[in-house]
Amino acid sequence: MRLYKKINQIKKSIQKYKRERKIIGFVPTMGYLHKGHLSLIKIARKKADILVVSIFVNPTQFGPGEDFSRYPRNMERDLGLLEKEDVDMVFYPAIKEMYSEGFETFVEVKELSRVMCGKSRPDHFRGVTTVVLKLFNIVEPDFAVFGKKDFQQAVIIKRMVKDLNLPIRIFTGPIIREPDGLAMSSRNTYLNQTERKNATVLFKSLKWAKNAYNNGVIDSKKIIQKMKKMIKNSGGQIDYVVAVDKNSLKPVRTLKKGTLIAVAVYFGKTRLIDNILL
Ligand code: PAJ
Repeated sequence: MRLYKKINQIKKSIQKYKRERKIIGFVPTMGYLHKGHLSLIKIARKKADILVVSIFVNPTQFGPGEDFSRYPRNMERDLGLLEKEDVDMVFYPAIKEMYSEGFETFVEVKELSRVMCGKSRPDHFRGVTTVVLKLFNIVEPDFAVFGKKDFQQAVIIKRMVKDLNLPIRIFTGPIIREPDGLAMSSRNTYLNQTERKNATVLFKSLKWAKNAYNNGVIDSKKIIQKMKKMIKNSGGQIDYVVAVDKNSLKPVRTLKKGTLIAVAVYFGKTRLIDNILL
């Protein structure tokens, strides 16, 4: 496994592999790796000749007052995990390397970035798309893998790839959960014991919704109302609970196959997201 901090150096190695016609797979992360990340890396490992993972806590996707400075980091542990997954190249640039002085170019996927998480995090997705496009330009992968945990993010990335004619295939991997159902997230480490216990209501409410749908309930309003009640009763502060079309992310009145039910909820100061596809 080789480590790169400099764009020039990783580009040089990538060019060599490109000349050898190797298939380059890529999994971008912000580190503090857990089994969710590792599941994507395993998917990519199967398809790639050369597997690249990036670790970069991207400042432009955090809003003012968000958790950029306290976002958990543990490079040594992360590198150990990546080594075990047989990763070929790790890119972990410094902030100055990615955003040099005078940086002022952003790429924005407009409407899709304004709904759901975009409402309470207005500049978040333009930070994500900008850094992912930069990483794509540096790594030049044949494919990249994203998690369905951040469903909206994956939809937005796919839109960007299509709109900008990037020669990159995007795959998505399933949500990996703790034994009690909580979706794995680096942010789970912020939760105290009570919040951690309460947070299990997210998956419970999503499973309840899917079950209700399977039993014939198709009125999204009814489902959302009941979910909100469940979540509030468990001490969650709701940012949103929505039922949307999985491609357009537009709200639907009637649930059907392909409807995405998604939640964003605060437990204390920690904002967690989760979703389920009908
Ligand atoms: P990060 O939160 O580190 O997540 C990296 C990738 O892991 C994303 O594709 C995310 O959807 C996936 N992931 C996280 N938790 C998961 C889980 N429990 N199950 C399955 N996949 C999971 O997402 C980002 O970083 C950043 O926005 C990034 C794309 C790296 C751009 O900065």
